[in-house]
Parts: sequence; structure tokens; C-alpha cells
Amino acid sequence: RPVPVVAIDGPSASGKGTVAARVAEALGYHYLDSGSLYRLVALAAMRAGIALDDERALATLAAALPAHFEAERVFLEGEDVSDAIRTEEASVGASKVAVMPAVRAALLDRQRDYRRAPGLVAEGRDMGSVVFPDAGTKVFLTAGVEARARRRYKQLMEKGMAANMESLLKDLQDRDARDAARAVAPLQKLPDAALLDTTELGVEQAVGFVLGRVRS
Ligand code: C5P
Repeated sequence: RPVPVVAIDGPSASGKGTVAARVAEALGYHYLDSGSLYRLVALAAMRAGIALDDERALATLAAALPAHFEAERVFLEGEDVSDAIRTEEASVGASKVAVMPAVRAALLDRQRDYRRAPGLVAEGRDMGSVVFPDAGTKVFLTAGVEARARRRYKQLMEKGMAANMESLLKDLQDRDARDAARAVAPLQKLPDAALLDTTELGVEQAVGFVLGRVRS
């Protein structure tokens, strides 16, 4: 039998990262935060002086990304960039490099490598549509844009990072529009995905919903 996959897709700051990590922990599964790969490509490109519209150079970078994950931290060439990939600049950069088919293709195998026994919880935009179309559980996790902007604001504050509510809201709307409108692997709710709107839901309830889908 194939290794089971729980695919959780949804817009920025919908809470899918937190929920996916908790579901993975509850099930004892591996966990893939696919957005961090696009963030790493953007950060590495900015550092190397590669333009965020140079598709060939970006794909080459993505194919040989000198990054690794260790105990919930992310490293780029040995440097801990866990906070650096979460800045608004890296977020916006990620959504720009993510529109390029060659960049997405270069990251495919790397993502599929995470599918190992006993199972995988993968979160992003195209987990259920492109990367793991045969996933046994697919959830589209969303929330209203203002609730998402408030959550991101709180997250940044807790990390002691600078944040401005108005620009966060605008960045989220721009990113959502870019993610949904792109030709390749756009953010979409698939017909076979369960819809989970967390605008009024706590993390516990959202985790419970996903676990319920996995077990049913
Ligand atoms: O999920 P997160 O906000 O960290 O993702 C950052 C950006 O990476 C998204 O705005 C999106 O453009 C891109 N992304 C993607 N496909 C994924 C995960 C993230 O295009 N599976």
C-alpha cells in the first residue's frame, strides 16, 4: 500500500501551518511545509543577486538549493534562516518565484521525497492538486482575509518582528491574487477536498476536524 498523505492547502496565514504540524504530531507522520521551499528560493536569490523574474537562474537555484531542515529550524548554507524566510519581503518574493513553472518543477522531487512511512502531512497550495494528487485526505483550509492578517500580525509581534496591519492586509490580498490567478498550480479548492473555514475556529477544533477526516 502507498504511504498515506494528508494534503492541506489554503491561502496565506490561514493557520494551515500550525494545524498541519499538530496533525502530523498527533499521527506520528512526517511533515512538509512546502511554502518554506519557495521562501528559501526567494531568499537565496535575493542574497545571490538573482532577479526574481530570471526563471532559468531561479530554477537552477531551486534544483540545488543548499538547504536543510533540523528540529523545526531551516538552514541555508548552514545558516539558520528560520526567521529570515518569514519576513514580508521573503513572503512576497516567494509568491513571485512560485509563479514560474520551471521553479515549481525543480522542487517537485524534493517535496515527494518527504513521503515516507508511516505517513506525511503536507501543506501548501498545490499539495492535493499537483504534488500528491493521490492523497487519501485533502483539506482546503481557509479563513477571512482580515482574520488572517490579524493572525500574521500577532505572529510577527510575538517574534519581535516589525509589522504594520495595513500593509500586511494589502500584501495578503496581493499574494492571494497572485497564487489564485497563476497558470501553473493555482490555489484552488478541489472537488475532492473538504472545506474548513477557521475564521471562527480555534486550532484545537481545526486539528480535530482534520483528524476526523483522516480516520473516516
Ligand atoms: O505557505 P506560505 O505562505 O509559506 O507560502 C509562501 C508562498 O509560496 C505562497 O504565497 C505561494 O506563492 C508559494 N507556495 C506555492 N505552492 C506551495 C506552497 C507555497 O506556490 N505548495
